[in-house]
Amino acid sequence: MSRKIPFFNTKKTKEIETETEGIAPKHVAIIMDGNGRWAQKRGLPRIAGHKEGVTAVNKIVKEAVKSNVKILTLYTFSTENWKRPKSEIDFILRLPKEFLHIYLPELISNNVRIDTIGDFDALPDYTKDAVQYAVDKTKNNDGLLLNFALNYGSRLEIVHAVKQIINDIDESKLLIDSLDDNQFSKYLFTNGLSDPDLLIRTGGEQRLSNFMLWQLAYTEFCFSDVLWPDFNETNFKNAIEDYKQRKRRYGGI
Ligand code: FPP
Repeated sequence: MSRKIPFFNTKKTKEIETETEGIAPKHVAIIMDGNGRWAQKRGLPRIAGHKEGVTAVNKIVKEAVKSNVKILTLYTFSTENWKRPKSEIDFILRLPKEFLHIYLPELISNNVRIDTIGDFDALPDYTKDAVQYAVDKTKNNDGLLLNFALNYGSRLEIVHAVKQIINDIDESKLLIDSLDDNQFSKYLFTNGLSDPDLLIRTGGEQRLSNFMLWQLAYTEFCFSDVLWPDFNETNFKNAIEDYKQRKRRYGGI
């Protein structure tokens, strides 16, 4: 038998916060797009673009530290990226190891903490081992959180959350009437993280590609035509400066 489930008190959902002008974003999320086109423009194989993309990651992480960003979430490998040729998938999934092999000491000295969102267990061992090592090594750092979205898909995340919620209700760990948007957020990979303030997508496309659909509800967007391997410190700083001019109203006036 179905029962009527009331909406929770929508008037009380969120405090309206308007005084954000001039303040740097706390959480920046980036869809790093354009690696393949960067390579093709140079007559190189697509993987050359992904390799160059690693250099851009290092530049932007350093700039995020300087800009006092607290969380940088990078869309590194999506649940849809498994549709690519196996050779390209293998190449992309080896990049975290390569990146950490070169840059982990510098990240540690910059007080960066590393973590991931996504279905981590389904990744190959060579990715998991390298990333887990870095997560463990940096777990006590309290500077920038460098958050790799690895095997991440927003719809997968939401469906997974719903299944866990149903399970917790069945086991009487959760009361259905106590479920609101704040409680729902706790079932997502991003539990404990504030929502992104700024989303940057490079590479000229203007879509979300199954990235943080729940978390981006009130995020400011910046779409850049620059291909990810060419995205540099100045492009990042400009995006932050542009964000600082925005008036965020969260549905209020
Ligand atoms: C999208 O560009 C990019 C990816 C699917 C891979 C992103 C990975 C990196 C930038 C390197 C990861 C680095 C670290 C440190 C883990 P695309 O291939 O879809 O480009 P296109 O739209 O031009 O084809």
